[in-house]
Amino acid sequence: MDYNENRFLNLLDLNDYPVSWWNSLLELGHKIRQNPESYAKACEGKIMGTLFYEPSTRTQMSFQTAMLRLGGTIIGFDNPATSSVAKGENLKDTTKIVSGYADIMVMRHPVEGSAKAAALTADCPIINAGDGGHLHPTQTLTDLFTLKEEKGTLENLTIGFCGDLKNGRTVHSLIKAMICFKGTRFVLISTSALALPAYIKDMLSAGGFDYREVSSLDEAIGELDVLYMTRIQQERFASEEEYLAQKGAFVLDKKKLLGAKSDMIILHPLPRVDEIEIAVDDDKRAMYFKQAKYGMYIRMALILTVIRNLGTPATIVRGRVHENVICSNPNCITHKESYLPHLFEGSSDILTCEYCDNRTLI
Ligand code: NCD
Repeated sequence: MDYNENRFLNLLDLNDYPVSWWNSLLELGHKIRQNPESYAKACEGKIMGTLFYEPSTRTQMSFQTAMLRLGGTIIGFDNPATSSVAKGENLKDTTKIVSGYADIMVMRHPVEGSAKAAALTADCPIINAGDGGHLHPTQTLTDLFTLKEEKGTLENLTIGFCGDLKNGRTVHSLIKAMICFKGTRFVLISTSALALPAYIKDMLSAGGFDYREVSSLDEAIGELDVLYMTRIQQERFASEEEYLAQKGAFVLDKKKLLGAKSDMIILHPLPRVDEIEIAVDDDKRAMYFKQAKYGMYIRMALILTVIRNLGTPATIVRGRVHENVICSNPNCITHKESYLPHLFEGSSDILTCEYCDNRTLI
């Protein structure tokens, strides 16, 4: 199969780009936030396609409002059952077609590595709006933007990640981003069943980053500058029993907040299920609703940057095809779309899947 090489300014994984590029987005986001009206025609005549194969409120609507506020228009689906996907169309064909209609395409999909798979053959830039439990780079931009606007810096922050660190793609993306800033300290608050995937923990250990794992919020809350709460991702569990065993494991309430710093901020990508009591919303440290609004400004900055093609496109394929190697992650896109080349990085007996980052022993 022929595939694209560095053709477009895709956003599949934020770490494909240098921190200087992230900073330029954050600066543009800040300018837009100060004066959104002056960007009202910036994308006039441009079309954004939104392909949402998974439910979404904030990501989808903030992308859509972002494009509309830039003067562009939108096409797309939010329920694959109403598109040709329901007739059995594969990912390659759907994304190829929509990328011929639109100038920029935003995709959310339940399968890991799907964004990269689509980018291999799409005819316009593609933005990853969440690929299974893998990554969610535009939520990370939202989180970085919120930190920058609210804390004034991205350096020397102690961040506690609490909840489903195994399946939470927003956590994976944000940790991968925060290791790029000086002095970040990570506190991982989860049960052992919901612990961070090994490949990210290895990244932390290999880089000598300051991190520790704890099993309760009380143990950590007093030292945090940022508390990043997440829901238990019910849809990513193999069975109802496994989910029920974790449900309600962490709940932030007003009593727990008594032990927190007065300037700690509470972030959450939302949706919330039961992990933050409603009463916490009235605490000035609760930043999650504001965070969702920041998401719209930073997505305006991203759309504008991609449409104006400001930056050097990231390399899509870094490794090579290993025809006979099968990715050991059962939720990798290569298991669902059989035409995809088996692309892996690495040369020893452990290969890293280029789509989902899972490591496979050969
Ligand atoms: C997150 C997601 O979809 O990964 N939500 C979002 O994009 N704001 C978090 C979640 O679903 O729990």
